[in-house]
Amino acid sequence: MKRYDVVTLFPEMFDAIADSGVTRRALDEKVWELKCWNPRDFVRNVHKTVDDRPFGGGPGMVMKAEPLHQAIEAARQRQQQFEVVPQVIYLSPQARPLKDADVRRLSAEEGLIFLCGRYEGIDERVVQAHVDEEVSIGDYVLSGGELAAMVVIDAMVRLLPGVLNDGASAVEDSYSPARHGLLDHPHYTRPEVWDLAGERSVVPPVLLSGNHAEIAKWRRRMALERTWRRRPELLAGLTLSKQELRWLEEIKQSHQS
Ligand code: ADE
Repeated sequence: MKRYDVVTLFPEMFDAIADSGVTRRALDEKVWELKCWNPRDFVRNVHKTVDDRPFGGGPGMVMKAEPLHQAIEAARQRQQQFEVVPQVIYLSPQARPLKDADVRRLSAEEGLIFLCGRYEGIDERVVQAHVDEEVSIGDYVLSGGELAAMVVIDAMVRLLPGVLNDGASAVEDSYSPARHGLLDHPHYTRPEVWDLAGERSVVPPVLLSGNHAEIAKWRRRMALERTWRRRPELLAGLTLSKQELRWLEEIKQSHQS
């Protein structure tokens, strides 16, 4: 079982992954477990102050070092009971944005501690003392690390064995090395003909042909076309087959005309 501890002022936000969908089922099946630690619970004074004004002045507040330190230590001790020495991941926009390879690497860890900041950030001494890796989920600023931690946990959990009912789904995702780094092809389901405001909207005929080789080829070509149209920079890192290079030429030609 993978063990994830989260240090957060808003533990209830994590109900979003604990109470719904595949992450919930995997939690019920003990594929992973989640334990939240609220730094506020480690503050003795009546006001339960977890933040303070920044030294040097300026707007906003900074999360105080000691409550965070206590919460992280509690999380470490819990993991230690299971003989895990966890990495501490700090969610922060001040990092390189997360990639598929990072998710795969992190999901191989037996236990992790996620540190979620609020306000303008956390006292840098906590980062120096505890943090092994900073992770951003993209070049935009969230109001706290919680949503980012949930993004990382969701992405990791769905890779764990037995979590997706179809074993092939996780490897066939877009970006997965198993898909050779292309975006996903389009998907269709019944009905074959969908009445959209009086217009007949149909499914590509090849998908109804029963010819699995032709279907695989069509999907591959569509994946290539989507990738070229939407994320052409992804193609630079790939080794394409002769067939794929021919398709790519056709796709570029048809785009020009
Ligand atoms: N905290 C605030 N913004 C963030 C981001 N983009 N990624 C990770 N953590 C964050």
